[in-house]
Amino acid sequence: MILILDFGSQTTQLIARRIREQKVYCEIHPYSISVERIKELRPAGIVMSGGPCSVYDNDAPHSDPAVLALGIPILGICYGAQLMILQCGGRVERAEKREFGKAELQVLRTDGLFAGLETGEGVHHHQVWMSHGDRVEVVPDGFEATAVSAHSPFAALRHRDKPFVAVQFHPEVAHTLIGNDVLRNFIFGFCGCRPDWTMQSFIETTVAALREKVGTARVICALSGGVDSSVTAAMVHRAIGDQLTCIYVNNGLMRSGESEAILRFFKETSKLNVIDVDATDFFLDELHGVVDPELKRKKIGLGFIKIFEEEAGKIGNVSYLAQGTLYPDVIESVSFRGAAPIKSHHNVGGLPEIMKLDLIEPLRELFKDEVRLLGLELGLPEEAIYRQPFPGPGLGIRIMGEITRERLDILRQADVIVLDEMKKQGWYRQVWQSFAVLLPIQTVGVMGDGRTYEHVVAIRCVDSRDAMTADWSRLPYDLLGTMSTRIINEVRGVNRVVYDISSKPPSTIEWE
Ligand code: XMP
Repeated sequence: MILILDFGSQTTQLIARRIREQKVYCEIHPYSISVERIKELRPAGIVMSGGPCSVYDNDAPHSDPAVLALGIPILGICYGAQLMILQCGGRVERAEKREFGKAELQVLRTDGLFAGLETGEGVHHHQVWMSHGDRVEVVPDGFEATAVSAHSPFAALRHRDKPFVAVQFHPEVAHTLIGNDVLRNFIFGFCGCRPDWTMQSFIETTVAALREKVGTARVICALSGGVDSSVTAAMVHRAIGDQLTCIYVNNGLMRSGESEAILRFFKETSKLNVIDVDATDFFLDELHGVVDPELKRKKIGLGFIKIFEEEAGKIGNVSYLAQGTLYPDVIESVSFRGAAPIKSHHNVGGLPEIMKLDLIEPLRELFKDEVRLLGLELGLPEEAIYRQPFPGPGLGIRIMGEITRERLDILRQADVIVLDEMKKQGWYRQVWQSFAVLLPIQTVGVMGDGRTYEHVVAIRCVDSRDAMTADWSRLPYDLLGTMSTRIINEVRGVNRVVYDISSKPPSTIEWE
């Protein structure tokens, strides 16, 4: 295992991704982790991440210098490199010229971190990505430069006797063309890791751990039809079989046919215990007359908890709640960066406290793409695995204004057409999300010889990596044209279709 100490860099998660892509397991922990805890984790190597501070700032994050005495190989990246050098007795100073963006690295040694990178005779040059204002000025005893750049006399360093290496550039970003080689040299060359972390090995260790933790107790799981909860259910079921009961609450705000497909798979193909509650009437009653987006979200969230609790109560004797928390959420909750809440995203958060259940989170160490691989390995259908994200409040936040059965019906029909054309024309998997939104206005049109005064549907389609930022997808005009024609022709009550060309920020992906 490789331990990554997080000093607050935007790219700490990327370091983890790159290492796991090499089939080596790694975990991110805050820089303040105790030396005792590190010893328990028994990492084969430690990476000290970059960070936004200067090592001399008053509140700069400093890891315990005792980390350097553990005898474990350490790679310092950017801020991490500067801190390592400072803690070993060197000097870091504000550079006259900051380096941001692409830079040319001149490699002085073709071993260690740069082994196997020879491009020919003599000195080697490589493109790397820099982002720093401070730089190492004086190296402590035992250290020497292994690479330089125009503005960094110590763009890479190594210790002659100890397994310490450091780079001023960011090997984890794609613009550092030799980034993967550098990380590979560290984890395999210095740390002696083996590329044996696969989804199959993850399943085996998780099954064993779940069996030991749960014993003969009962576990419940909220199944939503989404990737995370589906994979969670499949994973827990693999470990404890019928001790798991899933509860699926149909809030009446699902897309056409979507949950039926998931339920069919879980109930019939994988033989899971699934309690399937149709609470459509309850939710639509609760939402009657509600137009405020936050109130909608609140009512849907609370309604879910109420129904879920009722059903769970009927099972009795339940000790655990299985939940599809992913690694980015875990990192977010331990990170020291805050973010202003824009929308109250509703998931099953809050349930464990209310129901006094212990949590089981079998995916909490995985990134989304790893969850997908795990799902495939567990035998889930590709359709479920590559399903686009769907918000907890469902179509409720894609109907502007009041939610009624009639308006739900219109939106469902339009949405099916959008998804159908996206799939047919090979765009569905290329975008982050694609869906229809029903607007609260009517506009004038002409059909045949008559005037119409009907609804407007907006198509929203975005590209994104993580939903934090997004841009509208540049779909071909013909595809947009086909969707528009089909929606207007096939969905009764719609006479106009518009395409949303806003990015996030300043807009958001969903309209409410
Ligand atoms: P926004 O609209 O905030 O959406 O840009 C970002 C991503 O989150 C999804 N989303 C939700 N997911 N519960 C969820 O589980 C919610 O309440 C919720 N609201 C938005 C949205 O679909 C997009 O992928």
